[in-house]
Amino acid sequence: MLDDVFPRTEFIDVTITSPPYWNLKNYGSRQQIGFGQTYSNYLEDIQTVFAGVHARTKSTGSLWIISDTFKQNGELILLPFDISERMRQIGWVLQDVIIWQKDKALPWSHQGKLRNIFEYVALYSKSRKFKYHLAGVRDVSDVKDYWVRYPERYSPEGKTPSRNWTFPIPRQGAWGKARNYVKHACPLPPALVERMLRLTSDRGDIVFDPFAGSGSVLASAHAMGRRYVGFDLSRKYKSMFRSKVLPAVAQDYERRTAQTNGQERVRQRFGALILSLRTLKYPKELVRLYRQSWRGFQCDLVLAIRGRSHDSLHLVFVCPRNGTSPQTVIKRATRISAKAPLSKFGLEVEIDAITRHDFSEDSLAVFGLRPRSSLKVYRDGRFYAWNDRVTVQTLCEAMKNGGFTKGPSEGYPPILSTLAISIDPKRPEKAFEDNNAEG
Ligand SMILES: C[S@@+](CC[C@H](N)C(=O)[O-])C[C@H]1O[C@@H](n2cnc3c(N)ncnc32)[C@H](O)[C@@H]1O
Repeated sequence: MLDDVFPRTEFIDVTITSPPYWNLKNYGSRQQIGFGQTYSNYLEDIQTVFAGVHARTKSTGSLWIISDTFKQNGELILLPFDISERMRQIGWVLQDVIIWQKDKALPWSHQGKLRNIFEYVALYSKSRKFKYHLAGVRDVSDVKDYWVRYPERYSPEGKTPSRNWTFPIPRQGAWGKARNYVKHACPLPPALVERMLRLTSDRGDIVFDPFAGSGSVLASAHAMGRRYVGFDLSRKYKSMFRSKVLPAVAQDYERRTAQTNGQERVRQRFGALILSLRTLKYPKELVRLYRQSWRGFQCDLVLAIRGRSHDSLHLVFVCPRNGTSPQTVIKRATRISAKAPLSKFGLEVEIDAITRHDFSEDSLAVFGLRPRSSLKVYRDGRFYAWNDRVTVQTLCEAMKNGGFTKGPSEGYPPILSTLAISIDPKRPEKAFEDNNAEG
């Protein structure tokens, strides 16, 4: 069917489609694929369609197929798997299989098959170098609260979605005037299509759906600034597409984008917090590991100064005069830093050590600290909430007079930093409130 319409050039960036599920539904056309055919004839036709798509897809392109298993004459037909075998024969490279939880489903079950609430989403690529923008779909909405104490385990970009996606199917009436369209077709949820498009396409790309139905894929593509082309045998869908589906999906996309912008702010704040927490936890972990290897390590305080970028860190150990020499401290600390777990913190760390005796405003000026710079003090290893603050000037005077702190022989020395973090690990969500923006 593609040969009659398209030239044989590679112009498609991504195809997203849900073909007829063999003979489950009569779409009322003599040319329809599926209904009235034998299973092997149906699979042959499916193979022909997707071979045509393959020939016209760019080498960076991909193909998403949504399908499901179903019962026929008392036996389960593994349609997604049978289609997958045909795709392999064509040369499509299977990249992933995702479970799409539909939430709502037909209430009945069959003997030997339970109530069905999911479908299969298969992702194929034309080559191994296909577009795949993970950063566009990362999410911080359901990260666990442990991120405060274990910032090294959480990506600053948020969580990569799992292979289990929950997108409720559009309900009748969900889109106001568009309810007739929802009643007549079984459209895909725009949020589901949006995730696929975010992952595998860019603005201006060409999106194709050879079994467009109501045109839900094409309408999402339009709303997201992609170009689109689609086929369907049923004329009724075409007029419904222009009058109902396009405006309804555009409206839905706008509503969700407003929400997404809010989420994007949360994601950016989360990323900044994760990097700040890592910066403050790093010296704590370093002291812990140092003491594990070399007993009797004494340290009066540690300065944790963020460098030019958010993932660079300058650490300065301030040691008592009669303790281990600064050179030895630097050597040992650098050795520990090079290994896991600290090597997994994703920070560029420079380590220095000075004795208490050499602690002066001049020695701190090297790190961009001025006499009036304010340092937050994190005590007892509580790297996620500062206890008090001190100016560089006051700190230097106190150190000269033997005050401020004598490093504890056990427990953690105070960590001093220009970063201001104050998070209650029991209520981490409060860290995202606008009036709590620090660091
Ligand atoms: C499962 S539905 C697709 C629903 C669509 N994803 C949506 O969101 O509305 C399959 C569609 O394939 C169409 N179809 C069946 N045989 C076809 C053929 N030979 N050429 C083009 N479309 C066909 C049917 O009319 C039907 O709309």
